[in-house]
Amino acid sequence: MSNNSRRKFLKQSGALLAASTLPLTMVELAFGKGSEDRFTFAYISDSHITQIKGNRFVRNWDRGLIRAVAEANLLDPRPDFVFYGGDIAQLGKPEEIDHGLEILGALRGKTHYVMGEHDYYVDLGDYWRKQLGPDHYSFDHKGVHFVVLNSILTHESWMHGKWASGMDRMKQMARLDNPNGQPFMVGDAQRAWLKKDLAGISKDTPVVVFSHSPLQKIYKGWNFWTDDAEQVQALLKPFDKVTVLYGHVHQIQTNQIGNISFHSAMATAWPWPYPSTYRQKASYLPKLTVNMNRADPFFERDATGWQFIDVHSGRADVNYILPDNTNRKVVYDGKAGHPVDTKYQDPASRIPPQKHF
Ligand SMILES: [Fe+2]
Ligand SMILES: [Fe+2]
Repeated sequence: MSNNSRRKFLKQSGALLAASTLPLTMVELAFGKGSEDRFTFAYISDSHITQIKGNRFVRNWDRGLIRAVAEANLLDPRPDFVFYGGDIAQLGKPEEIDHGLEILGALRGKTHYVMGEHDYYVDLGDYWRKQLGPDHYSFDHKGVHFVVLNSILTHESWMHGKWASGMDRMKQMARLDNPNGQPFMVGDAQRAWLKKDLAGISKDTPVVVFSHSPLQKIYKGWNFWTDDAEQVQALLKPFDKVTVLYGHVHQIQTNQIGNISFHSAMATAWPWPYPSTYRQKASYLPKLTVNMNRADPFFERDATGWQFIDVHSGRADVNYILPDNTNRKVVYDGKAGHPVDTKYQDPASRIPPQKHF
């Protein structure tokens, strides 16, 4: 082994060791020369805090969020901010939102939030907005324009229909297969706002959009769907580099539509199955998606996790942090023109799922 390759080997084994024992040091490895325009942020989503009674909450969902917060606080160098991807609460109760925010309050640094349908449909977002402010806004950070959209709205006539109670309305939307629910949408008012917001942004400015539901159409039966997705995409089309990051689906998904890269987030609560496994139709998932491997259904944190995002050259690399499992990294490949899973994109290198359960 030449000195050079020996050095390289030692460096790589060191990196592997660090990655396996202390996954969070990976972010340090991501920083190197020319890191001036680089920054990172943590992304935590879908904790679904559930009140049982009084001050009793479902322990498993609490633990998932507590763990993500603790791990995000250990990131070194510090992320510039944290983003929370929606569904803090299970049924949108003030007690659930407060309990979730109390756990999230331990996060170091600024946290931005997007509204999830589980936060919204009991009181149409009143309590969430009271605690967290507007449900759509934008901000600029180190040359990147960030936009937050409330994508879980639906038809006004349905939202303001004759419901026995807000909870009655919430329960129609809180199911995965919500046969009495409605498709999500960003809506006319927010699209008009977005158009105006983007009007002042130069086309070579990287744009990162946060939504709760995917701003693309994946599977309507489970509301992995936003009804006016194409209209939102059209507003984003003039920009060179666009990334959409969304929660809601509780699983890893990857896609590229024209100039827009799409990445989903895992939940800290539980994983949803992939719609393709339910309907046996591969077309229910974007082709670039490499499914998560659910090897151990008896491990409560299995296939849950959180993300840290490494932004450089206007692109977002998504590092999926899976508790006690192999982390995943999905990065933009300039040659391919879309994001790829650095380890598992090639079907031959994937780990087959365990099938004994
Ligand atoms: Fe969710
Ligand atoms: Fe959701």
